[in-house]
Amino acid sequence: MDRLSENARLMIVSDLDHTMVDHHDPENLSLLRFNALWEANYRSNSLLVFSTGRSPTLYKELRKEKPMLTPDITIMSVGTEITYGNSMEPDNGWAEFLNQKWDRNIVSEETSKITELTLQSKTEQRPHKVSFYVQKEKAEEITRSLSSCLKERGLDVKIIYSGGTDLDILPQGAGKGKALAYLHDKFKAEGKLPKNTLVCGDSGNDAELFTIPDVHGVMVSNAMEELLQWHAIYAKNNPKIIHAKERCASGIIQAIGHFNIGPSISPRDVTDLSDSTLDNFDPAYEVVKFFLFYERWRLAEIGKSELYMANLKAVCSNSGILVHPSGIEKHLHDCVNSLRTCYGDKRGQAFRVWVDQVLPVQVGSDAWLVKFKKWEQSGGERVCCLTTALLSSKDVTVADGLTWVHVHQTWLNEASPSSSADWLF
Ligand code: GLC
Ligand code: MG
Repeated sequence: MDRLSENARLMIVSDLDHTMVDHHDPENLSLLRFNALWEANYRSNSLLVFSTGRSPTLYKELRKEKPMLTPDITIMSVGTEITYGNSMEPDNGWAEFLNQKWDRNIVSEETSKITELTLQSKTEQRPHKVSFYVQKEKAEEITRSLSSCLKERGLDVKIIYSGGTDLDILPQGAGKGKALAYLHDKFKAEGKLPKNTLVCGDSGNDAELFTIPDVHGVMVSNAMEELLQWHAIYAKNNPKIIHAKERCASGIIQAIGHFNIGPSISPRDVTDLSDSTLDNFDPAYEVVKFFLFYERWRLAEIGKSELYMANLKAVCSNSGILVHPSGIEKHLHDCVNSLRTCYGDKRGQAFRVWVDQVLPVQVGSDAWLVKFKKWEQSGGERVCCLTTALLSSKDVTVADGLTWVHVHQTWLNEASPSSSADWLF
């Protein structure tokens, strides 16, 4: 992880199902609120870590279903697999470490004798994780007997019961907490320990995360009884752990505010985006704000005012060009004209726009090159453009906002549309 030249301002380590991702929120509003906050305020100086029980296969499926950001680090299969970056480069050192006193054949052999255990799907059986379903009432007893029998066979395992149904058997050194401790050690060795770490979870396999020294923790409002019970027994007096009042990603935002560890107002909660009180030019915020406006305009969530169009033209350079993903060059002012005619065209529809990995690089005293992924979901179709924008602060004030000088877009592999006619920018 060498994206950051100094220690991260904040490292968020979040579980996915029912924590970052709310499966009871078909509009994904809390997730989209978090996304906008992260991209506007944290992406360039912080680290986003997803820590899930899912295998790489099910993790990738979830990413296709939900508008999730791309994390810097992905911890999968209950802390048994750590990968880095967009290419998901595996941490082989971690995998090797987990081989200690572990033999999945012995685990399979012993568990096959227990009729109450139902093996989970093939995708969820991993080199350092064997997973079952088991009834709540049986879980404790089976955990006890399995622990002692596997110990007799020379193994040192960790058995975790989660979600009131899942039983995972892992090497003792594994688990979400141990994986986080390993990352902390790694960053420490490089002199880059994050200034703050916030762990976020809702169920049994997340409990370990809350035991890591010095971390802040949030159990989202919808956390399961098993985690709340664990907290009541082991961590009740720790002021660095809260039980949020809000569900899922909104609970994470609430915790950032509660612990005062950084900005906690999502741009999605700001109704009047033109009313920003920035101290400095802020290209990432500018990008987030622009596409939020774009979404609201097409959904007719804001008034149909010519003033908006005039303001948009004012922040687009007169000679500014968009290289459209279809390969056609357009004047930015013509793009604004096209947008004018699209007011409310997505009204009442499942239409959402979000940006991912907004990374600005200052390329001159008054110029920034901002790279990001711009996603657009319309009904069932989801498309994305890798986008590069040149923004300039020449001859404008912070209050005016940066000028868009040049925008270049290319369809993201696997996320190109059936027809590119509908894409504005
Ligand atoms: C995820 C995994 C499953 C695991 C559960 C609890 O649902 O897919 O294998 O048992 O998390 O950790
Ligand atoms: Mg969960």
